[in-house]
Amino acid sequence: MKRVFSGVQPSGELTLGNYLGAIRNFATFQHQAECFFSVVDLHALTVPQDPGNLRRRTHDVAKLFIACGIDPDVATIFIQSHVGAHAELTWLLLCLTYMGELQRMTQFKEKSQGKENVSAALFTYPVLMAADILLYDTHEVPVGEDQKQHLELTRDIAIRVNNRFGEVFVVPEPYIPPKNTGGRIMSLTDPTKKMAKSADANSSIALLDPPDVIAKKIKSAVTDSGREVRYDEVEKPAISNLMVIYSLCSGDSLDDIAARYGTSGYGKFKKDLADVVIQTLTPIQARYEELSEPGVIESILAAGAAKAEPIAQRTLSRLQDKMGIV
Ligand code: AMP
Ligand code: TRP
Repeated sequence: MKRVFSGVQPSGELTLGNYLGAIRNFATFQHQAECFFSVVDLHALTVPQDPGNLRRRTHDVAKLFIACGIDPDVATIFIQSHVGAHAELTWLLLCLTYMGELQRMTQFKEKSQGKENVSAALFTYPVLMAADILLYDTHEVPVGEDQKQHLELTRDIAIRVNNRFGEVFVVPEPYIPPKNTGGRIMSLTDPTKKMAKSADANSSIALLDPPDVIAKKIKSAVTDSGREVRYDEVEKPAISNLMVIYSLCSGDSLDDIAARYGTSGYGKFKKDLADVVIQTLTPIQARYEELSEPGVIESILAAGAAKAEPIAQRTLSRLQDKMGIV
């Protein structure tokens, strides 16, 4: 059976971008493949985190996975740091990765730009991600477009290891939503930037934002000149982004949306957009609340780690053996 792996960092409040670009697809995959979804806390630690916030957010991401439709009886949900093989394999892979490869990573360049104290782990972060994926003999990795380069590096490392040591790893493929279907949801305040967890609050919709906050953020979202609602990434990047969000939340096509709102102005479009986003998030928020009873998520995560651990350990041992570790 095909294997699927993906991870989300507990580094901030999950956004509509995380949902539409990645998590929504996790739920689809669980019925077609054996799935592993991980809260990648070790990745979050590559930049400073408040320990209390990290602890709370780690559970929050796991709860939101389930609230977004992942069934813990079907897919395996676990915390990255609970399976020691992730950190161990990372070391072995670091010994097989070149500095030049990591220096080319655009996400590292963006995240380190202008910062004084950048951790060594931020630089080696893509190798930890490769370890996550390769440990589970993963065939497919659902991610947003921003992770494409990291997936290419993962494939390069897997192919290199296989060439040097014989068949050790499955070479994974990314699954990135096709254009206009969520792979890159943009900021509400600047349509040239992606919607991100860590950015200022008005630029992104958090999955747990209450309805009035969602409505307010959408109302104040930037728009383009003119008043026509039509899909045009070059002339109307802001409206096009809002149309993609509308389309993904409602199931209506971009053409239908343009036909409905084309000439009625931005105000009516934004009001209805707020309604469809609220309708999408309300059931997710209700399920999230149900999971907040003490002990519930902890036991799901313990069971997930117990399932992931032996699979990861087997892959790690395979490479240790080939590399000559006694
Ligand atoms: P992160 O927030 O970096 O942990 O990302 C978790 C997942 O959400 C990854 O697969 C990202 O590619 C995806 N993602 C994050 N932001 C966006 C966005 N604005 N649009 C689409 N996908 C996104
Ligand atoms: N680097 C990814 C991000 O920031 C998160 C991640 C870590 C991941 N390990 C992974 C995604 C493995 C897919 C597979 O979004």
